[in-house]
Order: sequence, then structure tokens, then C-alpha cells
Amino acid sequence: MTNMNAPLANRGNDVNTIEERVNTLLTQMTLAEKIGQMSQLNAGDGYAPDYLADGLRAGRIGAVLNIVDVAAVNELQRIAMEESRLGIPLLVGRDVIHGFKAVAPIPLGQAATWNPNLVREAAHVAAIEAAASGINWTFAPMIDISRDPRWGRIAESLGEDVFLASRLAVAMVEGFQGEDLSATGSIAACAKHFAGYGAAESGRDYATTDIPESELRNVYLRPFNAAVDAGVATLMTSFSDLNGVPATGNEFLLRQVLREEWCFDGFVVSDWDSIRQLQIHGLTENDRESAYEAATAGVDMEMAGDAYSGHLAELVEAGRISIGSIDTAVANILRAKFRLGLFENAFTKPEELPAVANGWALETAKQAATQSVVMLRNEHNVLPLAAAELNSIAVIGPLADAPYQQLGTWVFDGDVELSVTPLQALRSLVGDAADVRYVRAMENSRSRASEAFDEAVAAARDSDVTILFLGEESILSGEAHSRADINLPGDQAELVRRIRETGKPVVAVIQAGRPLTLTNIVDQVDALLFAWHPGAMGGPAIADLLFGIESPSGKLPVSFPRMVGQIPIYYNQKNTGKPPSWDNIAHIDDIDTRAPQTSLGMSAFHLDAGFTPLFAFGHGLSYTQFEYRHIRMSANELKPGDEVTVSVDVCNTGGVAAEEVVQLYVRDPVASVTRPVKELKGFQRVHVEPGETVTVDFRLHTDDLSFYGRDGQLVTEPGEFHVWAGGSSETQLRTEFRLESR
Ligand code: NOJ
Repeated sequence: MTNMNAPLANRGNDVNTIEERVNTLLTQMTLAEKIGQMSQLNAGDGYAPDYLADGLRAGRIGAVLNIVDVAAVNELQRIAMEESRLGIPLLVGRDVIHGFKAVAPIPLGQAATWNPNLVREAAHVAAIEAAASGINWTFAPMIDISRDPRWGRIAESLGEDVFLASRLAVAMVEGFQGEDLSATGSIAACAKHFAGYGAAESGRDYATTDIPESELRNVYLRPFNAAVDAGVATLMTSFSDLNGVPATGNEFLLRQVLREEWCFDGFVVSDWDSIRQLQIHGLTENDRESAYEAATAGVDMEMAGDAYSGHLAELVEAGRISIGSIDTAVANILRAKFRLGLFENAFTKPEELPAVANGWALETAKQAATQSVVMLRNEHNVLPLAAAELNSIAVIGPLADAPYQQLGTWVFDGDVELSVTPLQALRSLVGDAADVRYVRAMENSRSRASEAFDEAVAAARDSDVTILFLGEESILSGEAHSRADINLPGDQAELVRRIRETGKPVVAVIQAGRPLTLTNIVDQVDALLFAWHPGAMGGPAIADLLFGIESPSGKLPVSFPRMVGQIPIYYNQKNTGKPPSWDNIAHIDDIDTRAPQTSLGMSAFHLDAGFTPLFAFGHGLSYTQFEYRHIRMSANELKPGDEVTVSVDVCNTGGVAAEEVVQLYVRDPVASVTRPVKELKGFQRVHVEPGETVTVDFRLHTDDLSFYGRDGQLVTEPGEFHVWAGGSSETQLRTEFRLESR
């Protein structure tokens, strides 16, 4: 029965549908209360200060962020629900990016798993752990296509490719939000940063982006479209300027694309104070005009600023912003609150949720770490190490035993006590069977002091194998931490050189928040594992891989340049009118100083870097070998609307069982807008026993061949297409088909 004493919004059984409840509530709200819903305040850590309580009672606050004490959150919800006039519950946001207490690999590492099920599971764990603290909204996933490893936030991204990022974006949304957003343990996701943030000039965080509309639609917007189709509850605008209009005031993005074309019915939050920053960008004169631009563009909620609370009322009263558009924004926010079930269930009872950092959480983090590690080199099969044959192992480097650093960027709530470092894991795995000699050698990755190198060299000389733990500390990537030089920092390359001189086998394990330029060290080591920042369980995952308990199965979600000057370098580039070939540039090193300009064939390459990356997108070695055979299609003549099967046989010709990520690429060689030389259109992770051949089938629909054409519309054009399947973007195993016009 309806409780007539309850605040109006809580009389849930007065109306049946969410839309009716939203509309009923809107009719009861004052303008000030509406603007309150559009305002998110930073609550800081710890207990709620008085101003929050007062603001909540007055209906001036619709959401908070950065409060993670469950008792404090419950108290805020109580004030909002019981002491405000309308009893509207609060959104409680937090950056839960790759785990909450039990930290999983950084998102770029998770992308290297190419495993949507695992990525979904990791997000689900994070949601449940965060929900136990009263959080009902995470600012994740970050799905900015990232093709510039200088950019610190590439660590948070899902890499360079539209298809991979879109699949994993959907998996993360599903993991955070669950099947039912109102269920205990589900939290609202936020696809960010809309849009183009990853294209920051020279990889400098927050820098300008200039992206032609066709590139925007074909590349940067697609993962967002996928997230919207998957039901993501919210989107966050980008800090950056897009083609002269900062994203937070960009009507084209927020109205035309997001609302009109994609019919998004969740809400859009600004980034931190990014509404007031419209003035700093040079778009507006003052906060009032910034509020005007953002609200008219379609930003529903302001994060951590006071442009809306300070100016929206006067803009409405002056007739510059209609009450109708305020109502639309508020309806978007209320709809999300109803979908989250907050009106019925705003209070958190941690005892109803699984314990944080439980076995499941840590096992998921470990699996994700294991599958994220990419083996880039393994000369003479120096890996896996054979425990029985080793008497001594030298473990050297600043990241062998760095429990905090292995967690990576964005770990506000991560419990460093849960971290098991590679050194700890190796010691416990090897036990008494071998002597583990640890020399840190460098205070941190940036150190220039080499006094401890002699001790490291001595340890290497006296050991059967050296494992070098190199890379970057977590603070060298993430927001506002871009680098212009992405070599291994400090004197690490010199350390590698000194260890190499011992003549003993050398294995390097690199932890980093971005691809690094490894050209100067790659030939100096026998084996190279790239582990990203692998999270709390990175140590055991790496130890299992080093000793062959698991075979490496990660694949690069982003190309690794040979040198910074190649950036941006990504696999699905355009062909150009003068594509390079190795034949052209074979004599690059002995070019005569008086050689004619045409002597290298006049094509698109760098004299000092060629035209290929050091390691290509999709690349990753295994302890076994996979042979790809017999690519075929169920039909080679297609009509619009057809779906076909592309099959390939994958044979494990090596000696160990392993997982392989089988990749499908397509090229549209002739189109009205030039298309990339290859585009990922499918992938599957399969387990293959030694000697076994598995057939992998991909479904390919003609809609998968579509692209945004000259007029900004999605088109699928007839003609010939090329199809490849293989273990990396460099695969040569190809077939072809024709798409007829009808
Ligand atoms: C700024 C970052 O750009 C954004 O990704 C994050 O969610 C917010 N701050 C909140 O911390």
C-alpha cells in the first residue's frame, strides 16, 4: 500500500513504468531541485562534510563522487531519501577502472587477453567489490581508440582497434551493469571520453584533437556506439577540443550523434570541471556562458564544478535555456536512478555481497594477468625455464619486487597488501630447488645511478639464467602522464647491456602502462615477456608463464613502434598511393650520398625506421607453434544481407597444449571512401592440444563490411573483398569473395 507520508518519489507503486515515474517526479520538482539533480559534487574521502548534508536536504545535489566509506554513503543516502523534500536517492560515482580492492591488469593489459568473457568477469568482480562500499556508478570503461603510446592514458584504453575495443567495451559494460542494473552488485557504467580524446596531438594529455568526420565515425565513435547498443547507462564527455568545439560543448556529438542517431536514453556527465574549462579553451567568456554551451549541447550533469548550480537558473529565467531542455536532462538522470533501482533500494548492505578480495576475485585477476602477458621474443626456446635444470636464478631490476607499481594507474581503492610480486611468486614456485638471487640494481625505473650494476652483473654471472624485471612505474602512465620518449627510462638499457655481456641467458619481463620502443634492447635479450601493469596477481601469473605452467597467449592490442618518429603507426592504416615494400627499401642503409631521388622507389616509409612496427597488432608468441591452413568460405559470392562462414584450420604443431587467439581480417580494396589495408572483423581464443587441429568458424555478415561514406551515412558497397585468418595482423593466409550489388 502506498505510504502517503513517504517522500513523493518513493511512492513507487503509484505508477507503473519508469517513464511515468520520471514524469510524475518532474512535475513535482522546483527548478532548483532540477538543477540539483544536474550537479555532482566531489565528496572527498572520508565522512560527509556538513555542506553535503545541507545540500542534500535542500535538493541541491544529485550525485557525488569519491566517497567510499559505506557508512558515510548510507548516511548520505538516508539524508537524500528521508530529509529532502522529494526523497531522490543519490548517484555515488568512483573511478573503478580495473578492479576495486583486488586489482586486475590495466585495461590495455586486459585488452591483450582478447578474451571478452574474462574481461566481463573482471568488471563484474570490480562492480561487486565497489558496490559493497556504496558505489553505484563507475567511470569506466574508457573506450577511446588509442594509437599514440606517448599518451599516458593509453594504459586505460582498449587499444588501437575499433573491433577489439568495441567487443571489450561491451564486455565491460555487461560486467559492471550485469543482466539487471537494479540487482545487488550491479553498478552503472560510463563510456568515456566522448569523443576523440585518444587522438590528442603528439600524445600530450588534454591536447587538441582534429579528426575528420569520416575518421570520427569510422574509428573513434564506433566503440561508443557499441556501448550504447549494449545499454551503457551513462557517457562522459572528453576534456579535449574536437575540431574547434570542445567535446563538453559539442552539439554535433552530444545531440546529433548520441541522441538523434543513436537514440541514447541514459545521461551524459561532463568530465571533472570540464564545463568551466570551456572558458579556458576559449569557447566562452565566463562560467554562465559555459553552462549555457554545455547545457544546450546536451551535457546532463556537471561533475565537480559549479557552472550549472551557479548559472542555469538565471539562464532559464532569462529565457535562454528552456525548461523543456532542463526537464530532458533531469529525466535522463532520473531514468538512470530508477533503472538502478535506487528508489527502492538505495542503502548498501555489504553483508549481502560476496566478501571483497575473495578467491574468485583473485583467481580472475590472476587469469586476466596470465592471458594478458604477450611473449614478444623467445630465441632458442630459452623459455619456459625448466626448474629441474636450474641451480640458480638471478632476479634483477626495479620492478621485480614493487607491489604498488605492478597495480598500474587508477588504483584509488586497490589493496596493495594483496599484491604478490614476481620475486615472491618465483621464490615460492622454485622453493628450495634453486637459489634465487635478487638484486634490485636501480632504485626505480628512472634511476641514472649505476653503482649497483656490478652486483647485478655478478649475480647474473653466477646464475644459470637472469630474469630482468624492467619497465615503468605506474606513475609514468595514466592521466596527465604522457611521455615524449618511450624508451625504457633511466639506465635500464645500460643495465641490459651489462647483463648481456655475461653471456648467460637473459629473459626480460617488462611491466609498463604503454607500448615502449624496445628497439635498443630487444636483441640483447633471449626472451621478452611484455606484462603491462598486471595487477595484484601479476607475480604468480608471470612465474607460471616463466616456468611453463601456462603458455603465453596474450596478443598485442596496439602496435609497438620501432621509434617514436613512426607514431602514429597502426595496422589498419590506409594504403596510400605509394605503398612501400621491402624490395623498395632493401638498400636503405647503403644509399649513396649522390643517389637520385628515385633510388628507393618513392614510397611511404621512413629512411631510418622503414614502414613496419617493431611488433605488429595481434602479435604474440606461444610455447607451441600454430600452423594455419585452408582458409575457406561457405560462399564466395554474397548478396547484401547474407551471412557466411569463414573457416580456418589451426594446427598445434608444437609440443605443448596452448591457447591461441585466432584473428579474422577483411579488406575492401575499392570503395568510395578509401578503406584500411586490413580490418579486424572477428577473433576467437581457442585451446589446442599438441598435434590437434581445430577448425575455427567465423560468421561474417555483409553489415560487417559497412563504413561511413562521403555523406556520413553507413554504406556497404559491392565489389571484391579480401579475407585473412591467422595469429596476428601480419598473417598472409588469404581468400577472397565478391559482394554483388543485389
Ligand atoms: C578526470 C578523468 O579524465 C576522468 O576519466 C575521471 O573519471 C574523472 N576525472 C573523475 O575522477
